[in-house]
Parts: sequence; structure tokens; C-alpha cells
Amino acid sequence: MDENQKKVSGLVLRGKSSRQGLAMRVLSHAMRILGIETSCDETAISIIEAEGSFGNDFRFSVLGNALLSQIEMHREFGGVFPNVAKREHQRALVPVLQDALWQAKLVKPERDVSEETIAESERLLEREPELALQLSQFFRAYNTPDIDAIAVTVGPGLEPALWVGVNCAKALALAWNKPLVPVNHMEGHIMLAAADGNALARFRMPLLSLLISGGHTELVLSKEWMQYELLGATRDDAVGEAFDKVARLMGLPYPGGPEISRLAAVARENGETSAFTLPRPMITTDDFDFSFAGLKTAVRRLVEETKGEGSLTEWQTRAIAKEFEDAVADVLVAKTMRAIEQTDAQALVVGGGVSANAHIRARLSDALRDYGYSTKLLIPPPELATDNALMIALAGYFRAEKKQFILASDMQAHGNLKLI
Ligand code: KG4
Ligand code: ZN
Repeated sequence: MDENQKKVSGLVLRGKSSRQGLAMRVLSHAMRILGIETSCDETAISIIEAEGSFGNDFRFSVLGNALLSQIEMHREFGGVFPNVAKREHQRALVPVLQDALWQAKLVKPERDVSEETIAESERLLEREPELALQLSQFFRAYNTPDIDAIAVTVGPGLEPALWVGVNCAKALALAWNKPLVPVNHMEGHIMLAAADGNALARFRMPLLSLLISGGHTELVLSKEWMQYELLGATRDDAVGEAFDKVARLMGLPYPGGPEISRLAAVARENGETSAFTLPRPMITTDDFDFSFAGLKTAVRRLVEETKGEGSLTEWQTRAIAKEFEDAVADVLVAKTMRAIEQTDAQALVVGGGVSANAHIRARLSDALRDYGYSTKLLIPPPELATDNALMIALAGYFRAEKKQFILASDMQAHGNLKLI
């Protein structure tokens, strides 16, 4: 291990009774957290070392960050099928784990896990036989890494996909004798958005979070760090879901968000204008709810009318993509600005895969300036906006710091997990 990776201090687990986080002693300062994410179509594992707490010299560094995307696989089917995702996570987890541990220089070919423990871990992975086999081989070949806790996404997401990560985390916790931290995926998006370099950005509460992903469209208020109050949410489709479904209607590949965004950008760069108009659902309603199903239906009608018996021209496709993206951005901006006004939010997190969208990022940033709000905008870099395990390791650290560990026998995946 090289010098800058030497651990300052960490959790000490004592004897068998301390397994799964019971009877542990927190020394102080730095903790190494291994985070696992399998809620949708990315298999990801990251290892961070972090110390401090919110508002109190929080610092972290990334020791390893590995991700395997299933997008190519799902593209063939035009979307994510939970059981395909589950199978792919099973296959990918051990290679991704090895990659992350290698990057962190935390593994050596020195076995220290007993056959008895391996047999126990195989029982935990009864429903994931392929993963069980790969993991057993891994335990037979390598040492226990010097980490302090294992954090894993327990929801929200696709339940069969979540379970693979959850069971893998249980098996690792058992074999390595490490505590487990359950993580809410959406909290991960918030925390990664709030991170800045190797620390947290400087901001004051209340914090408003606009969470826009394949499964969520929500405005969430935090009067305190890690406390959440739901202001409003979509009544039907999530924004990312609308992007993906609309892309499909227009014959574009999965996932639709980046593709629509790319085409809309070309239309804007070329200065192309069109007479196409789409609705801005619920833009004037006096609440913080959203609805995107009607917008999707309107796109379907527009596509059918425009193409008639033929197919959409490239110009028409770009024009519809641009109008759709404008409609979504108008609604998100209007609702978010109203929420800032009502809550006096001092910072705005934009998190979730759709926050990778350049147009939506720019529109929100322009709106803050035009409305004269001094609200600090917190958005992850585009490459970290979509799912990854860094966000899970980060959220895991803040939960571990509060000693929010869980017994393996109590840990379950919850597809509809809410932020609390
Ligand atoms: O957060 P995420 O990676 O997974 C979920 O937790 O759902 O979000 C994925 C969603 C997909 O619907 C994808 O189409 C959308 O984020 N997305 C985008 C862009 N990049 C990803 N939507 C619009 N513009 C983008 N550039
Ligand atoms: Zn996500």
C-alpha cells in the first residue's frame, strides 16, 4: 500500500459478536467505505476514504471507482427488463469488485477466508448461483481488504436488480467481517451533487433538491442535512422515463435522454425553428407536482400527424426533440423557481440521470440568475450525474458516521423506498 493510502484510523471490529456491525467501536477520523450500486442498469462499486462530518471539515478521496454499464444489452430490447438486469449484475459484480479493489490497491493474492465462511456466503447467494461461484473463487484467492464498512443501495429501483447488490453486500460483510450500511439511491444522488472536489460545497440550509431520473421526478426540501420533506412528485411518468418513451416513439435508441438531448442541441445550433408546439403540463398549478404522461401522448400524436404514411425526416425529428426538451425544461424551471421562492432555499441540488442534460442544466442556472436568487446551484459533473457507486459510498459514509448500520438478516431491497 502506498503512503497516501495509509489509513488514518477506522472502525475496529472485535471478535465474532461484532459481525454485521454489532458491538463495534468507532475510533475517529477516516473511514474507508466500499459502495455497491445495482438498482437499475449499471453495476458499480466504489471505494472512498472519508473523514469529518457535514459542516465540519468533511473530506473524502476516491480510492477506486468501477462501473459496468448494461446499456448495450438493454438497447437490443429497447429498455430495461428487470430479470435481464438481474442476470447481468450477477455476472458483472465480481469483475467490477476486483477492478475497484485493484485501483485502490487493497487486494493481494493471500487468502484469509475459511471454507466454512465461504459455504455460509454461498447459502446467502442461493438465488444468485453465478455470483456465488465467482465470489467463492474470489474469496479463495484474495485477502480481506482493509475497509471499514460496506454500503449498498437498498432502493428505490428494480427489485430483482437491487437484490443482487444487497445479497452480494451481505456475502462480503459475512466473509470479511464488516458492518453493512443500507443506502437510499436518491440520497446518493443528492450527496454526490453536493460534493465539490474532495469536500462538500459550501452552502446553507434549507436545501432544495430537484431529483430527476428514470424513476423519479421530485422536489424535496431539507431543512437539515439528511432530513427530507417531499414537496411534490410526478403523478405518472418520471422525466427520464418520458425522455426514454418519447425517444422510442421517434424510433431513437435507448436510453432516450442523451439522444434527444443531442438532437435538440443540433437543432438549436443550426437555428432551426418549427411550428411544433407541445403542452407544458401543470406549469401553472399551485403545487409542486408534475405530470409527463400527457406530454408523451402529445408527442405520439404529433409524430403520427407529422409522419403520416411515411417516416419522420431528420429535420422533423430534431424539431420534435427540441420542442419536447423545451417543454420539459419550462416545467422543471417554473416549479423549481416557485419552490425556491416559497421555501427560501439557499441551495439547489439537481440530481439524477436527467441532470446530465446540458439544456436543463443551463436553463436552471439562467433562471436562478434571472429571478435574482442567490441560491447556490449544486449539480454533479455530467459523467457523475447518472448512476454510479461513488454516490452510494458517499451516502454510506454519512450514514456510517451516524452509526446507522444494519444486521444482514434485517437488510432487504425495497423497490419503492422513500427518502425519510
Ligand atoms: O439516475 P439514472 O442514471 O437512473 C435512475 O436512477 O433512473 O437516470 C437514468 C435516466 C434515463 O431515463 C436517461 O434517459 C436519463 O436519465 N438521462 C438523460 C440524459 N442522460 C441520462 N435525460 C436527458 N438528457 C440526458 N442527457
Ligand atoms: Zn439514479
